[in-house]
Amino acid sequence: MLKNKSILLVITGGIAAYKSLDLIRQYRKAGAAVKAIITKGGEQFVTPLSVSALCENQAYTDLWSLKDEVEMGHIRLSREADLIVVAPASADFTAKLAQGRADDLASTCLLASDKDILLAPAMNHKMWENPATQKNITTLQKRGVNIIGPENGEMACGETGLGRMSEPDTIFEETASYFRDRQRLTGLKVVVTSGPTHEPIDPVRYISNQSSGKQGHAIAEILSKWGAEVHLVSGPVSLPPPAEVQYYPVITANDMLNQVKALMTADIFIGVAAVADWRVKTPSDTKLKKAANAAPPRLEMSENTDILKYVSSAQNRPALVIGFAAETGNLMDKAKAKLKSKGCDWLLANDVTHTNNIFGSDENHVNLIKSEKNNEFSCEEWPRLSKKEVALRLAHEIANKFKRCEREGKDDKNLNLISTK
Ligand code: C5P
Repeated sequence: MLKNKSILLVITGGIAAYKSLDLIRQYRKAGAAVKAIITKGGEQFVTPLSVSALCENQAYTDLWSLKDEVEMGHIRLSREADLIVVAPASADFTAKLAQGRADDLASTCLLASDKDILLAPAMNHKMWENPATQKNITTLQKRGVNIIGPENGEMACGETGLGRMSEPDTIFEETASYFRDRQRLTGLKVVVTSGPTHEPIDPVRYISNQSSGKQGHAIAEILSKWGAEVHLVSGPVSLPPPAEVQYYPVITANDMLNQVKALMTADIFIGVAAVADWRVKTPSDTKLKKAANAAPPRLEMSENTDILKYVSSAQNRPALVIGFAAETGNLMDKAKAKLKSKGCDWLLANDVTHTNNIFGSDENHVNLIKSEKNNEFSCEEWPRLSKKEVALRLAHEIANKFKRCEREGKDDKNLNLISTK
């Protein structure tokens, strides 16, 4: 799993740094290339010489090294890696990372990096339990940093508690599992809709909604990272498109429908977009003007095609069709009715009674409802999570589903039979 992978290992100051030497050995044995950065604190526990010898690569220590900056540069160091592993991650380094500081080579590299990070904290249990550290860890998790451990046990200081760095075997396993996940959706084509739509009234005005696109974009990003061929059809949002997805910006619900149709067939369709239900039947070509004593203009509306419903009943229906439902009150009943009427396989439903908590927020609180055999449903409430974490959980559900189908010996075309009935 690690063969030919390139890992950037950051060793920060903690007694557990000696275990990183074994971790390097395991990575190398598995065929990964390892480059290491040792912080000033890390150098108190392991030497650049031993780290370099095990990596079979020079260990990097200094942000201001003329030689390294000429030959390599901290930007390139982070770009070349497939994954960054911080082990051990001290309380101080964790805080730095959470704050986005860049005052040494390691923190600068990580701030300049767009690579995923596995972080194995190691510290005294009181430091770990401190609300400041816990807040930093939560901040990092919300940003998508994977935290490994820490473990419970006796510490170098003689106290016992939660704070020991996970063993190199565990960190190695987590690293292998990270790369395994990157292949879990290989070969699957996914179409995701995201964001709102704009339905024009006249050349300067439109009808829209509060969708930010954060959830749809996060889903597209993780599925693509897991190896799927992702096509993201998005209404107007202020987010950049995730790297490596094929991106189709659209404006109206009709544009979105046509783009989705053009992208069919697919293995999976995920309708996250908050598509406008209605459009103005005949938008004005010129700006509508106020006139003294005139009544406000009356807007005649037409219904937009329901894209999710269309895809669910299309002849070339994807094997798995997933919808979203934002409801106010009586969530589960409405969501189950919606799943049935749309004809999709799964629905992620959230209560938007207090809209400020969901729209535009970085967090989401969803229930996953699956259509099961004999008109039954299975429902699972997920805790309030960051939208990235919701996307990750959904990726696991999708990967498990397709794995289960493979085990049952069904080919892709039959997957919907398993999904729905
Ligand atoms: O009916 P409602 O708009 O609440 O349904 C929400 C779900 O249906 C979302 O998955 C959304 O992407 C999808 N939808 C759609 N086309 C529409 C309206 C909603 O795909 N015209």
